[in-house]
Amino acid sequence: MNGLWYVLLYVLVQTTLFARAQGPGDISAAIADAVTEVGARRPGGPALASGAGPAGGGAGFGGAVGGLGGAGGGLGGVAAPGSGSVADNPISIHALFSRRREAPGAVAAFGSAGDISTTATANFATRTGGATPDAAEFSRQIAPYCPVRRPVCNPNDRYRTADGSCNNLNNPLWGASITNQARFLSPTYGDQFNTGSVPRIRSVLGPLLPSPRDISNAVLNGGVSPPRSRIYSVSLTHFGQFVDHDFISTPILKDGDQDIFCCNGDVPVVRPECFSFRTPPGDFQTTCMHFVRSDFGVSPGCPPESRNQINQRTSFLDLSVTYGNTLDGQNDLRELNTGRLQEGVNRLLPTGPPGSECLAGEECFKSGDNRPAEVPMLTVVHIAFLREHNNIVERLRALGWTDGEELYQEAKKILTGIYQHIIYTEYLPLVLGEEGMNFFGLRSNRFGFNTLYNPSANPSTRNAFGAAAYRFGHSLVGSFVESFNQDFTPRAREPMENHFFSTRLIRDFTTFGPDAIARWMTTQFKSRADRFLTPAIRNRLFQTMSGNGFDLGSLNIQRGRDHGIPSYNRWRQFCGLQPALHFGTGHLGLTNHHVSAARALATVYSHPDDIDLFPGGLSETPVAGALVGPTFRCIIGLQFMLFKIGDRFFYENEFVPTGFTAAQLEQIKRQSLSGLYCRTLDVKSMPANPFVSPLTGAPRIPCQNFPRLDLRPWSRINNSGYPRRSGRRNISLKKKNSY
Ligand code: HEM
Repeated sequence: MNGLWYVLLYVLVQTTLFARAQGPGDISAAIADAVTEVGARRPGGPALASGAGPAGGGAGFGGAVGGLGGAGGGLGGVAAPGSGSVADNPISIHALFSRRREAPGAVAAFGSAGDISTTATANFATRTGGATPDAAEFSRQIAPYCPVRRPVCNPNDRYRTADGSCNNLNNPLWGASITNQARFLSPTYGDQFNTGSVPRIRSVLGPLLPSPRDISNAVLNGGVSPPRSRIYSVSLTHFGQFVDHDFISTPILKDGDQDIFCCNGDVPVVRPECFSFRTPPGDFQTTCMHFVRSDFGVSPGCPPESRNQINQRTSFLDLSVTYGNTLDGQNDLRELNTGRLQEGVNRLLPTGPPGSECLAGEECFKSGDNRPAEVPMLTVVHIAFLREHNNIVERLRALGWTDGEELYQEAKKILTGIYQHIIYTEYLPLVLGEEGMNFFGLRSNRFGFNTLYNPSANPSTRNAFGAAAYRFGHSLVGSFVESFNQDFTPRAREPMENHFFSTRLIRDFTTFGPDAIARWMTTQFKSRADRFLTPAIRNRLFQTMSGNGFDLGSLNIQRGRDHGIPSYNRWRQFCGLQPALHFGTGHLGLTNHHVSAARALATVYSHPDDIDLFPGGLSETPVAGALVGPTFRCIIGLQFMLFKIGDRFFYENEFVPTGFTAAQLEQIKRQSLSGLYCRTLDVKSMPANPFVSPLTGAPRIPCQNFPRLDLRPWSRINNSGYPRRSGRRNISLKKKNSY
């Protein structure tokens, strides 16, 4: 007995001494070990960094070096043609979606630094029995491995930077590309110190959480043909997808420049990058579903932290999906000196390098984002915005604009203004409903300015929004790609699963092509907003032969766990909603769920606190007049509020020289997506609301009846008051709390 007491006493004294002994020495040892570990994990070595750079240039990292396993393209470079594997199998096609893009070297360096920082944080905790290192000392010691990015901002710059830096003059990296996704709630990971080396894997009761596929089968399976909306058209789904690709792109981990394979037949591959999961026998060819974890970066200054995943895109609604999110990326898409964007044959997107962003053996497209060919309907939206840019350039040229750079920037500014106007006046009201729009202050003014810019609002895309809430759009996806004739009679139909990352239908003007697909998209009802995903994406995503595809619903659930997204109940609390204490739908239960949805959740989860955010939020009954339930409405509403009030260049801001003049804004506010489609696609008429199907009885309006885009307020020929140059009062910015 005495001996036991001695042992206990010894352990106590040792732990206390050990915990007290932490200091600079522990920090340097933790960092040194992390550098060795990460060096082995990420060949090419860690990034060493120093220096400042001009705003918006390249990828904006001063002096980051290291090569990082031939990630292709180098710092600020555009992805090397065909880097990675050939897209002839589901894993490589998925890797197209999540690849490092315009500045692969910078993304790799950023990831490497993130790995050193989080590993050192965990090492320190292990050495000291769970302590967090002193932040200032940690930052000081890790500095040689911390990428330095200090954009030099000019408050008088009229236009956005390519990479979104300097939008916020006090915090120039807020919302910039290749920064961390921000968080509304701190993460819940599965490792002892919550740093993210292990994803969220355990039930609050102890055992492992259910397999994502079991959850998908129970909650997201709507049968062969999930029901359709009776109001909204396919156009809404893919405009929403276009917007998503504008504000987020999360790269996954790679092995050098090679894709990682996480299943060996039925057997999961064990390596830190992998997080594959079990599927029931018979669902797919194997019982192991491949899953690679997302890459993660560092916060400015490299404080001790847990994993935060990277966003390669700018967070702003700035059409970086069309224009690119680095200077090199933008230049790669432009014509030399004309202000125009390159077009391909038949005014399609320009052709990208072979094997870059489409199926093996096809001629790929190139755009500001790596996913323009993910599905043909999305390509149509890309094409419309590309063409409209060039239309605007020609109109400005006719109004006396001559300089190629100015033509490019001004056309980009105008188109971005129209795009934001469409999002806040046509798209979001349908997603969030009247009440949601009002609650989050998202309505645009009918006329005139509405300056709500708040420099304390960080617009960065939030992790839970990208990894779960905004993926509500997956329930809107249908099963087919179709085309209609000029008179809106059906012409052709193809199963969607045969055309992921394929450019074939868009290039086939006889049967499909962008115009005929657009006529169908703006007519046919989309899939209903509910908890169901169509089999094309729930069973056959990216499949190249029967049974070898993915389940997108399962990937969403697993991605949420990979990113440490807290459970559904935590989000209910965050949103001021009652968390569920039981699986019933009555008092203190799943009060926003239909009985059948609550029962489905109860069949797979052991405790309401285990419910993952994606299935929990998606299976809520949509709020009247909205497409989402209260929890997703809260997360989406907050994020679009931040996209608006955190964007100094938001189209309604009355700022000089970045904003529009009153006369210019008036023209922007007369525009709609239907008008834009009329100008850019071969359609003769469009519904007044581009997302409401004419099958509801809503009339089709002849294209000539939509307000034309009147650019006279931009004229440089007739100097009757345009353009306004100076002499405007300074706008004082209202300071509010940060969100
Ligand atoms: C046929 C149409 C679509 C396909 C094939 C598709 C496919 C995918 C895939 C494969 C992912 C990555 C899954 C992972 O985590 O591994 C993803 C992510 C995502 N999807 Fe979709 N999707 C489609 C439509 C939509 C729509 C309509 C929306 C929203 C309105 C949407 C929103 C998102 C968001 C926000 C992400 C996260 C992106 C990131 O973090 O990079 N998707 N989608």
